[in-house]
Amino acid sequence: MDNISVVYATKTQHSKKLAEAIGKEFDVEAKNITKHPHPKAAGLLFLVGGIYAGKSNPVLLSYAEKLDASITGKVVLVTSSASVTHRNQRNLRALLVGKGIDVVDEITCPGGLLFIKFSHPNKIDIQSVAEAAKNISRKVATSAAGHDV
Ligand SMILES: Cc1cc2nc3c(=O)[nH]c(=O)nc-3n(C[C@H](O)[C@H](O)[C@H](O)COP(=O)(O)O)c2cc1C
Repeated sequence: MDNISVVYATKTQHSKKLAEAIGKEFDVEAKNITKHPHPKAAGLLFLVGGIYAGKSNPVLLSYAEKLDASITGKVVLVTSSASVTHRNQRNLRALLVGKGIDVVDEITCPGGLLFIKFSHPNKIDIQSVAEAAKNISRKVATSAAGHDV
């Protein structure tokens, strides 16, 4: 699939690792939102971030505020967090859906906080996230071509 973008916000570099692994799958540079704050047109956009106090990273939320359905096609959320129950980026998803942006999927993985899930995301987590991203892009491309999977 063409026109794939991967952007991330991070406080402890977990999302950077995940975003870079996803970028590698598609041969695109994973962009840090802090350095690249202005959204560009994308057919499929991976938004990568962690959970803080039960919510999405505020930097990722501010970036999502700037997205527009006219230049952003489909979005995949990629979330790492210490708690399984808080892993969904509900507020980010709601913001995007409110803008008419199609959130096609969410990839989740453990992200350590002090002694909780300390060594995550590990190599295996990162690899599974990258594989999940590739599978989702295939599904999106197939359904865009008119074949449901
Ligand atoms: C100050 C702080 C607060 C956090 N709050 C939560 C939380 O409320 N729920 C949760 O599941 N994980 C929480 N985490 C864990 C992070 O979501 C997790 O480590 C994530 O992988 C961090 O991603 P990042 O390094 O890309 O920002 C917190 C981590 C820190 C450092």
